[in-house]
Amino acid sequence: MIEIIDIRKTLDGQEVLKGVTLRIEKGELVAIVGRSGVGKSVLLKHMLGLYKPDSGSIVIEGLDIVRFCTRELCKVRERFGVVFQGGALFDSMSIFDNVAFPLRERLRLNEQVVRQKVEEVLEDVGLLGHEHKFPAELSGGMRKRAALARALVTEPSIVLFDEPTTGLDPITLNSIHRLIESTHKKYNFTGVIVSHDVPEVFSIVDKVAMLDMGRVVEFGTPEEITKSRHPLVRAFITGSPYGLQETQS
Ligand SMILES: Nc1ncnc2c1ncn2[C@@H]1O[C@H](COP(=O)(O)OP(=O)(O)O)[C@@H](O)[C@H]1O
Ligand SMILES: [Mg+2]
Repeated sequence: MIEIIDIRKTLDGQEVLKGVTLRIEKGELVAIVGRSGVGKSVLLKHMLGLYKPDSGSIVIEGLDIVRFCTRELCKVRERFGVVFQGGALFDSMSIFDNVAFPLRERLRLNEQVVRQKVEEVLEDVGLLGHEHKFPAELSGGMRKRAALARALVTEPSIVLFDEPTTGLDPITLNSIHRLIESTHKKYNFTGVIVSHDVPEVFSIVDKVAMLDMGRVVEFGTPEEITKSRHPLVRAFITGSPYGLQETQS
């Protein structure tokens, strides 16, 4: 479904990805974890075709996108919903119009269908009744819900989340995780979540990939990752800076 095979990418003279291989099955929810600056966002951008790897291949639902032209990439991107850090809502639009945006601009659906779809997804994320508010009037958690609604409204087969819970208090963080879990069940998308919330995110995902030193250093179920003997994984999940320094020197 999503197959990343030995991709390498140098940005600004620094080799950020040094042979990343990752296979995500259809319908799976996978977390990508790792320290800041290891290339998690860069990896997500490769899946979207926003970056091209220097070598290696990226297969999205059977399509090798590496040699695709802009027009072909735009077509592939229609399969994706994205929830980026910060939510990226349009401040000048109501929640309803924000969520309706891809349906009106991209799919050009008639207003009756738009209304029906927007109301359904707003209900799924618990925002029905708030659709006339503007982003500035919402709490941080509600803005994340609105961003999720906008990503889901086109019923994408793949949803990418880049740190969807950054800046939230623990209770709101938990409610957003539960929401990702419930919408994943209902919409059946293949999901990739870049997350700092370890171990919290482990309770909602099928698999975890830990990225470090330009590679996937461990990949497995949350239970397998929790039991991993790999020193970088141990150091990361116990929050110990010493293990990291030892293995790097
Ligand atoms: N467009 C870019 N140009 C140059 N360097 C970049 C660019 N995007 C990311 N990088 C570098 O790549 C590394 C990985 O970045 P990123 O994927 O954003 O990390 P994170 O794992 O925190 O998401 C960082 O060192 C960052 O400075
Ligand atoms: Mg990032």
